[in-house]
Amino acid sequence: MRAHASDRLSEASTYNLVVLLVGANMVKVVVLPILFATLLFSTALGEKPKAEAFGKTAAGKAVSLFTLKNDNGMVAKVMTRGATLVELHVPDRDGQLADVVFGFDDVAGYESADNAYFGCTAGRVANRIARGKFTLDGKEYSLAINNEPNHLHGGVERSLDKVVWDAKPLDNKYGRGVRFSYTSPDGEEGYPGTLTVTVTYILPKKRNVLDIRYTASTDKATPINLTNHAYFNLSGHGSETIHEHVLRLNADKYTPVDDTLIPTGEIASVEGTPLDFRKPRKIGARIEQLAKTAALGYDHNFVLNEPESDDKPNLAAILFDKSSGRRLRISTTEPGIQFYSGNFLAGAKGKDGKVYAHQSGLCLETQHFPDSINQPKFPNTVLQPGEEFTSLTRLSFSTDADAAGKKSPASPKKAK
Ligand code: BGC
Repeated sequence: MRAHASDRLSEASTYNLVVLLVGANMVKVVVLPILFATLLFSTALGEKPKAEAFGKTAAGKAVSLFTLKNDNGMVAKVMTRGATLVELHVPDRDGQLADVVFGFDDVAGYESADNAYFGCTAGRVANRIARGKFTLDGKEYSLAINNEPNHLHGGVERSLDKVVWDAKPLDNKYGRGVRFSYTSPDGEEGYPGTLTVTVTYILPKKRNVLDIRYTASTDKATPINLTNHAYFNLSGHGSETIHEHVLRLNADKYTPVDDTLIPTGEIASVEGTPLDFRKPRKIGARIEQLAKTAALGYDHNFVLNEPESDDKPNLAAILFDKSSGRRLRISTTEPGIQFYSGNFLAGAKGKDGKVYAHQSGLCLETQHFPDSINQPKFPNTVLQPGEEFTSLTRLSFSTDADAAGKKSPASPKKAK
């Protein structure tokens, strides 16, 4: 960031004043170095991401896009509609960047029926609520049934993925980012309470990491479950399939579901099932065994093993793509992760004309368990007035070249 002329003027008059007060020698030895260091520091901190126009919603609301870049060349683009991750460019083993998440080139794409929650913040309650019903403090609530016979991802018109959020760009010691905030009025999409939510994306300057932090508060007891719904293909979005990706999940258990994908309440071992990813396994190796189930593939909530310590997010998943060498490690403070293998994708046309075919992208959604509001044995999802909900999910990227001790080039080449 360049200093403005007015800043330089005020720096000059401050200098004269300091010379008068403490003498020229003192200025050279003590004051000048301090001034210089302060200037350097403020320049380094002065690069808040700028808002760019991304277009307008059908209702005429302006949507802004922010580009976050780090010193290694990694780029994340996020927009105010749905506090959505639109692009994520990460280096492969040769330093070549590719965009590894699904999305659209414009707001109309995101508003179309082709958008299966690409990159959005899902909520107020991500995943399903059985038959769209729950009872809280003696009152029964009815929500939209948008995934027969259940409620999915917070509703139809005003779920968190569809509204336009406020945005505050950030540049601080953690990195560059954007804090999105949205206040959902009492009763919106049928949920009780005025809910204030923030989602902050931060890209640290030196590390290939994207942190997603959530906070929420309410004025009435209300269920919440917040996640990011990015679809990944580590070979680059639009690549054919994720069957060759290798996945490890830090989960000995999962929550079995009925044929409408609602948990039965049981917490079962993955042992002896195609859901056993305790050791790294190719996604395609056993997916056929699930083709005839209601999910048509993987679409399960895994119960993460207990964290080893409370002070850091818990390892949830490690995804590896041999063809590019890219590796994604997901850690989180959430108790579960939904592994969805893109079974309902059906050839939508996304960014750069790329086609998103059946099982060509996968979601790893850190979350509380589906339908928790109706499942007394699952971890609690009811937020009470006066409480603050906080949660962190960290996406860390590396390559097999890093792992072999050959660091990938400091300044990656541009993607073709
Ligand atoms: C769910 C899938 C659903 C998809 C919507 C996932 O979170 O688990 O069942 O089809 O979202 O795109």
